[in-house]
Amino acid sequence: MVSARSSALVALMVAATTALLLTQQADAGRVLTGDLCKNTDFPALCSSMVKSKVNAEKATKSAINNIILKTREAKLSTSMTKGDKSLLDVCNEMYDTALSDLDTAVQNLKSGDKPSVQTNLSAVISDLETCVDTFAEANAKLPYEKMINLLEQMTSNSLALAAKLP
Ligand SMILES: *[C@@H]1O[C@H](CO)[C@@H](O)[C@H](O)[C@H]1NC(C)=O
Repeated sequence: MVSARSSALVALMVAATTALLLTQQADAGRVLTGDLCKNTDFPALCSSMVKSKVNAEKATKSAINNIILKTREAKLSTSMTKGDKSLLDVCNEMYDTALSDLDTAVQNLKSGDKPSVQTNLSAVISDLETCVDTFAEANAKLPYEKMINLLEQMTSNSLALAAKLP
């Protein structure tokens, strides 16, 4: 009788401890993800880019893959835009350069080359600015300005995440 009760008690304690540990683990995951995005310039956007990735490498990879997808979308939109062809071509080519720099950054990440991840991501910002400047200098309205701003914000976040790589 006593032993049945005490073993039930032990079972209850084990269950409670397990639940506590699981909660703590889940909390640790949340806190860590929050921390990764905390010092980025656009934390809400960052959270959507890294989802539940809890280490800097996985988070950076997820973020860069997000930028690659968005850049492909942007390239497609620009290729279908009517307007000054010579200006639009600058942006079309720029997207190819940006995609190539992003691919290199993914490779750099795989080989654990943090400085190259950072330089190649910085290059993506310059690529985007080339397109913005080309339209500004021609006093022409930049098409898909919002998309380019979003890409710059995403890249800025990725740079902040990459800074946390070991
Ligand atoms: C990108 O990374 C490579 C190493 O894979 C490096 O040689 C190159 O200089 C980097 N590109 C830029 C634009 O910094």
